[in-house]
Amino acid sequence: MKQTLAPVISNDEIMPGTHFIWLKSPQVADIAKPGQFAMVYCGEDTLLRRPFSIHQIDGDKIALLFRIVGTGTKWLSAIKAKDSLDILGPLGNGFTINSDSKNLLLVAGGIGIAPLIFLAKDTLKQGKAVTLMLGAPTSTELYPEKPLPAGVKLITATEDGSAGKKAMITDLLVDFTAKADQVFACGPVGMYKTMAGMPELKYKSAQVSLEIMMGCGVGVCYGCTIKTTRGLKQVCQHGPVFELKDIIWEELASE
Ligand code: FES
Repeated sequence: MKQTLAPVISNDEIMPGTHFIWLKSPQVADIAKPGQFAMVYCGEDTLLRRPFSIHQIDGDKIALLFRIVGTGTKWLSAIKAKDSLDILGPLGNGFTINSDSKNLLLVAGGIGIAPLIFLAKDTLKQGKAVTLMLGAPTSTELYPEKPLPAGVKLITATEDGSAGKKAMITDLLVDFTAKADQVFACGPVGMYKTMAGMPELKYKSAQVSLEIMMGCGVGVCYGCTIKTTRGLKQVCQHGPVFELKDIIWEELASE
């Protein structure tokens, strides 16, 4: 983990209110694993750095994907090529891929696609079969197909039916779990709570990436503490990836 100034290569709005930034960061790109994140300085009006999943890696570059939700992400959305971002990373544990797993099921709720593209690319390179289930409220919030890695089997759903099936992505999940050796998910807590109640996932390895507010990002402030069946854990240090069945979901507020 290092703090560095990463030059911005590009910043594009790829969906309304959602940005995709490429940064030059060999220090992070060299060692980051899918599911890890970086803490990013987001302007002087934002007291704390903000956590962002590492979305993609290409050589010495890393990509971040984020939605504008407040002052910090608004500031970040205005960053220009040739500016630099103060980043700290890579942080957290990342996903664990079993060497004998052949079929991986990735489940993304909205902006939860962020760490799963890195995971999809990495595991496709390892020869795994990857099915990506992508859900969003409407087609305008659905991650575009163009940046998806070739070889991914894509299933989409929107709540209003404007793209893919008209359904919550968790409604479709049951049709795909039997074939999956491992499930990896990133999305809102409500989506995880639905998954935690699914009998089909009870005996399956299902890892979820928790996106919650963080203070320090490095295990010092205890602001990201959650209750698990293995005791209190800090999301920034012991996560952000946890086994679905290890989290005590009743203790975690849905957004
Ligand atoms: Fe400070 Fe996790 S964010 S301990």
